Amino acid sequence: MFIQKIEKLIFNEDIFFVSANYKYIRIYRWNPSLNIKPWFNIYPIVLNETSTQLMVLDVLFKIKNDFDSTLAFRRSCREGICGSCAMNINGLNSLACLKPTNFQNSSFLTIYPLPHLFVIKDLISDLTNFYNQFKLIKPWLINNKAYNNKFNLQSKYDRILLDGLYECILCACCSSSCPSYWWNYDKYLGPAILLQTYRWIIDSRDENSLSRLNFLNNKFRVSKCHNIFNCIKVCPKKLNPTKAINILKNLIAE
Ligand code: SF4
Ligand code: SF4
Ligand code: FES
Repeated sequence: MFIQKIEKLIFNEDIFFVSANYKYIRIYRWNPSLNIKPWFNIYPIVLNETSTQLMVLDVLFKIKNDFDSTLAFRRSCREGICGSCAMNINGLNSLACLKPTNFQNSSFLTIYPLPHLFVIKDLISDLTNFYNQFKLIKPWLINNKAYNNKFNLQSKYDRILLDGLYECILCACCSSSCPSYWWNYDKYLGPAILLQTYRWIIDSRDENSLSRLNFLNNKFRVSKCHNIFNCIKVCPKKLNPTKAINILKNLIAE
């Protein structure tokens, strides 16, 4: 109740104590061991000239170090490579380490865990189902030829076909923004896993394309994509899972 009251006051930009020097960080909190409903915490962070270049992940570290060490979030590389800091920032799934704090020029920043996934704690989403689905597609090269210590080479053209696919860092921003995945997360593979599947199907060195396509040929696994395009909008690597999914659909139909 108290938090709701404060929130009501603080989020009214007309109220006098909302200062231009502050950024108000509103964070979803949940701790399974407390046996209470999720709540929000609001942390006023002072901004100075240098801090306008801060990324959201830097601000989360500041909150954890200076205000509340119990705040839980995932991160590793801080460079947009590992994909572990994916979260929902002001309504869009993003990587916290690549998202500047000064975007939208607003004093307010609201952070949730990735949507429509189970939550482990605070901003940490449960990606068990996502990784199990990744495992299902056998994300490795399958080739039974003997190369007698020679390299398994591919042409420059075949290598170029992997561009726009191999860069995927499995952050799950796309899958957790996809309405079809929200409603069928246990049956539909979702944009990230399908993009990865296509990456192996199109690889000239892989010999398993046919059985990979057969695996997808099911009422849900690929066909639940309805071209809503949320996935493209949020991908921090500017990839296009919808395009890959539509090619897969055509390959299955052939
Ligand atoms: S285009 Fe397909 S995969 Fe992407 S968000 Fe829409 S339904 Fe999901
Ligand atoms: S396609 Fe983009 S948004 Fe989806 S998992 Fe890969 S990098 Fe993340
Ligand atoms: S911490 Fe690795 S992508 Fe953000």
